[in-house]
Amino acid sequence: MIKVNEHFLKLQTSYLFSSISQKISDFAKDNPHREIIRLGIGDATRALPPACIAAFHKAVDEMGQDASFRGYGPEQGYLFLREKIAENDFQARGAEVNADEIFVSDGAKCDTGNFQEILSNDITIAIPDPVYPVYVDTNVMAGRTGTVKDGRFEKIVYMECTATNDYIPQIPEEPVDLIYLCFPNNPTGATVTREALIQWVDYARKNKSLILYDAAYEAFIRDDAMVKSIYEIPGAREVAVEFRSFSKTAGFTGTRCAFTVVPKECMAYDSAGGAHSLHTLWNRRHSTKFNGVSYPVQKAAEAVYSIEGKKETAAIISGYLSNADRIRREMDELAYDYVGGQHSPYIWIDAKTDSWEFFDMLLNKAGVVCTPGAGFGRCGGQHIRLSAFNSYANVETAMNRIREALKDA
Ligand code: MLT
Repeated sequence: MIKVNEHFLKLQTSYLFSSISQKISDFAKDNPHREIIRLGIGDATRALPPACIAAFHKAVDEMGQDASFRGYGPEQGYLFLREKIAENDFQARGAEVNADEIFVSDGAKCDTGNFQEILSNDITIAIPDPVYPVYVDTNVMAGRTGTVKDGRFEKIVYMECTATNDYIPQIPEEPVDLIYLCFPNNPTGATVTREALIQWVDYARKNKSLILYDAAYEAFIRDDAMVKSIYEIPGAREVAVEFRSFSKTAGFTGTRCAFTVVPKECMAYDSAGGAHSLHTLWNRRHSTKFNGVSYPVQKAAEAVYSIEGKKETAAIISGYLSNADRIRREMDELAYDYVGGQHSPYIWIDAKTDSWEFFDMLLNKAGVVCTPGAGFGRCGGQHIRLSAFNSYANVETAMNRIREALKDA
């Protein structure tokens, strides 16, 4: 008899954004004439930068000629891309990351979800609440948690992020083995200070813990003095893995390209205390289960680092950040408390009521989609997330509609 992995049965049947998508489809079917504005999932709406398109086209043409055709590429990614990443995203900021420590992939969702696979099941995990649901769900699937009780899985140390701590996870009092951090944060948009990150790195070194640092939204940091990579912190190479993505940086949500940095100093330990290189283990996992991102996509990603590519991606990000400013202004006027939107495409709003009810109200009255905070954890139960990924005109219309909807709410 074939048996199911019973850990999957502990999860809600549907992934957060799939449930929301179903609700939107149902609403659209019942209201065929209503125009829906989506400020829910953080999905890029602006076209790929022209520099990326040109490189993409050129690479596709190369694939059409025997002389320049490419079959399987290196599973870890082509060196032309890994070198550009290392130079531009890290070395230029004084962070030591070498090209051979970068693993190119088809998404930070897969990487943040898969990385736990090379770690023991017998570890303690600290995860912020609210948080991108992939971190919790993949640990549940792996069997590292108990069942869910009152919105919380047993055996996870939840780091509550609320208005009282400015939505910043606090270092747990007890030692934990694995820590998930995400800055700028999804869903709250909160950012971390260099000083706080130094403390996290110190804690991880002291406890031989590992930090999984999700920096998928670093391109939205407007202040160059702020920390963008955990490797800007001394000692982080020993205890941190960093995830990045071209999805939000350059509109690759549909094109798919991301990368994970695993420094060679980063270790995990066996039951006898022996140290093992996570770089070696991740390389083993990656080359066994993944066959690399397509050549044209990696060429398109490489173009992000060209002079034109840098200018064009900066303009796209600025556009989304203007939307975020517009949302923040509206929330100020409506006197809603919120965080984020300054160095992030997400604005996390205290809805002061059940987040799914607020979601339904906004959809029905305003035809605007948000993300209910409950989907990110118990602490999100009374919050909603608005995303700045849309056109300015749509954001403007959405804000006007929300204002009207709240008048008679
Ligand atoms: C989100 O809306 O939280 C993100 O788009 C999800 C993702 O990047 O997978």
